[in-house]
Amino acid sequence: MTYRPLSAAVLAAGEGTRMRSATPKVLHPVCGRPIILHVLDALCALPLERIVVVVGHGAERVTKVAQEHLRTEIPVEFVEQRSRLGTGDAAAVALTAFPTDVDLDDDLLLLVGDVPLLRPETLAELATAHRRRDAAATMLTAVLDDPTGYGRVLRDDVGDVQAIVEEADATDDERAVREVNPSIYCFRRTLLAPALRRLVPENAQGEYYLTDVIAVLRRAGHRVAAVPVADPQEILGVNDRVHLAAAETVMRRRVNERWMRAGVTMVDPTTTYIDVGVTLGPDVRLLPQVILEGRTTVGEGAVVGPDVRLVDTTVGARAVLQHAVARETEIGDDCTVGPWVSLRPGTRLWPGAHVGTFVETKAADIGAGAKVPHLAYVGDAEIGERANIGAGTITANYDGRRKHRTVVGPDARIGSNTVLVAPVQVGAGAFTGAGAVVRTDVPPGALAAGVPATVHEGWVEARRGEVGEDEATGPPPAVPGEGGTSLGGA
Ligand code: UD1
Ligand code: CA
Repeated sequence: MTYRPLSAAVLAAGEGTRMRSATPKVLHPVCGRPIILHVLDALCALPLERIVVVVGHGAERVTKVAQEHLRTEIPVEFVEQRSRLGTGDAAAVALTAFPTDVDLDDDLLLLVGDVPLLRPETLAELATAHRRRDAAATMLTAVLDDPTGYGRVLRDDVGDVQAIVEEADATDDERAVREVNPSIYCFRRTLLAPALRRLVPENAQGEYYLTDVIAVLRRAGHRVAAVPVADPQEILGVNDRVHLAAAETVMRRRVNERWMRAGVTMVDPTTTYIDVGVTLGPDVRLLPQVILEGRTTVGEGAVVGPDVRLVDTTVGARAVLQHAVARETEIGDDCTVGPWVSLRPGTRLWPGAHVGTFVETKAADIGAGAKVPHLAYVGDAEIGERANIGAGTITANYDGRRKHRTVVGPDARIGSNTVLVAPVQVGAGAFTGAGAVVRTDVPPGALAAGVPATVHEGWVEARRGEVGEDEATGPPPAVPGEGGTSLGGA
């Protein structure tokens, strides 16, 4: 077997008209990752010299997304196909990125950019068969129950591939063939180039068909080989939104099975939606209706769900989340969240913190063991360790022009229905009365009560013993209280 280096070219210049979308087809995500990146990821698992991507429709966007999200040592180049004259023309454009010196030959994996389910193992099999047979071209084929939309594979009397006919150009007999062309080939590059020059756009679509090079090579006496794909699901080409959903379903099942095998429990995998960029620890338990997106990670033993959506969020070990939405949030070990909680970007819960029913947070740092048990808005705020934020508390962070910060010290007890008018600080161990509107800083150990609140310095110390020790000055109860601290006005 002659050794030639292996390279790849991906055709991704097409408009994807059938998607009816302002977004280029190959940028539509499947399990959170654009289609083109799934294809490039599969290629990058192989020992390739280089990868050339042919871009055209939305060239800049496609190039930018691919460059930003691809992690590989393999050089990846982008070449632009200016007029979309068909897959044959696109292949010719790809070849312009390679040296023309005929002594420099290589094997070229040439494939379309709309096959997100293709696995690297299948590409490796294709390249190996190509080398073993010393073929000019080797193509994957698949036998489908419904071959509609695909080019059909025509074989000769001895069963060798003779040509590919596009559906639009096929006779009724040819259309009845169920063996299709997935558009995933391996070519000897120095034989592909002259074959492409022989193409003519004389067909139903008036395009240069890459598929025609198979017949051209055969007629020139070259060997064309075929490798039937074991799992026809892999070659699903996304042309419209129905295909997109089908690809998503297959990919989701793969992702879920991988995590279940790695030690994650899914009560109902059919309602568990995990992006390919998500990481899950051992013994994570996912209840129904969980959506984990982007770069979300969930730590060992955490219980997530039912009905939780996490985007770019970190969940610590043993945390328990139910009925919650979180975006760009860090949730520490042993935290409890929900039900019915919205954690917006910049929220950070330190270990053991609790955020309970009907609470919204944003850019909020909630200290270890602190509790926001019910009905609160905590934004642009820092809540100290073990502090308790009573029901109905609002950080009034916006004066109509700018956002301001609220700082609540450790062990502070914010009474029910307090409004903290930022910028404002409540010192360590201080109290606010129920319904207080706090406009001025409250020193440590003071009580702020009333509307607007009057501050009573030294209040907590003076009342020591009067109010039950663990109610007034001791650490807040371990279990979230019923409705928060409920001291009346002064
Ligand atoms: C093509 C094949 C068909 C095969 C099918 C598999 C041809 C003529 N037909 O048809 O036999 O069964 O793929 O999915 O090749 N592209 C360009 N530039 C162009 C045209 C297309 O880069 O000028 C790219 C597209 O971005 C896409 C790929 O080539 O990624 C295939 O194009 P598409 O229009 O989807 O081809 P099909 O009609 O599906
Ligand atoms: Ca296609």
